[in-house]
Amino acid sequence: MTNEKLNIGIILGSTRQGRVSPKVGEWVKGVANKRGDANYEIVDIADYKLPFFGTTDVTDPAIAAWNEKLSSLDGFVFIVQEYNHSITGALKNALDSAREAWNNKAAGIVSYGSTGGARAAEHLRGICAELLIADVKTHPTLSLFTDFENFTTFKPAELHLNNVNLMLDQVIAWSGALKTLRK
Ligand SMILES: Cc1cc2nc3c(=O)[nH]c(=O)nc-3n(C[C@H](O)[C@H](O)[C@H](O)COP(=O)(O)O)c2cc1C
Repeated sequence: MTNEKLNIGIILGSTRQGRVSPKVGEWVKGVANKRGDANYEIVDIADYKLPFFGTTDVTDPAIAAWNEKLSSLDGFVFIVQEYNHSITGALKNALDSAREAWNNKAAGIVSYGSTGGARAAEHLRGICAELLIADVKTHPTLSLFTDFENFTTFKPAELHLNNVNLMLDQVIAWSGALKTLRK
């Protein structure tokens, strides 16, 4: 084992114009950076301009770049927003657009929606199992009613900080353990 820091990607699940996910992702990154225990980075699916899975050749450069980014990461925090009681189509497409690069890595989920994004997060957990992503228990849930002003301006309640740190504790522990499997 080396003392190299783990690389954790904070994946923004929405690509919608006017989305709030960058604010939520930056907030999680701010909390994470204060810990100093890993290299945390925002990974914005929108930057990769992924084609709809199956509509291009598998050698598509956008898919290759997406897989290369995921391969450089040891673990993930998914920023999940609830769309029609599930995850966004963009996040599902991004999940479908890689396989080995997801395998044997850990992930935490931070979700939001009218019921804290709980239904979307539970759907994501089923997908994680198929992709051999070990999703941790602690799951900060942000409410559109109380953590956002007018459902758009992100103002997270103080009480979520503890949960974000607990979730990160679990992601770091499992990401470190699973790294040994990939060697
Ligand atoms: C197509 C669509 C479907 C939605 N469905 C739900 C839903 O089922 N449950 C819910 O709590 N919020 C729902 N919402 C509200 C979103 O969770 C909310 O707009 C959130 O800010 C979206 O995240 P984003 O701004 O990062 O895209 C929906 C929003 C959209 C655009």
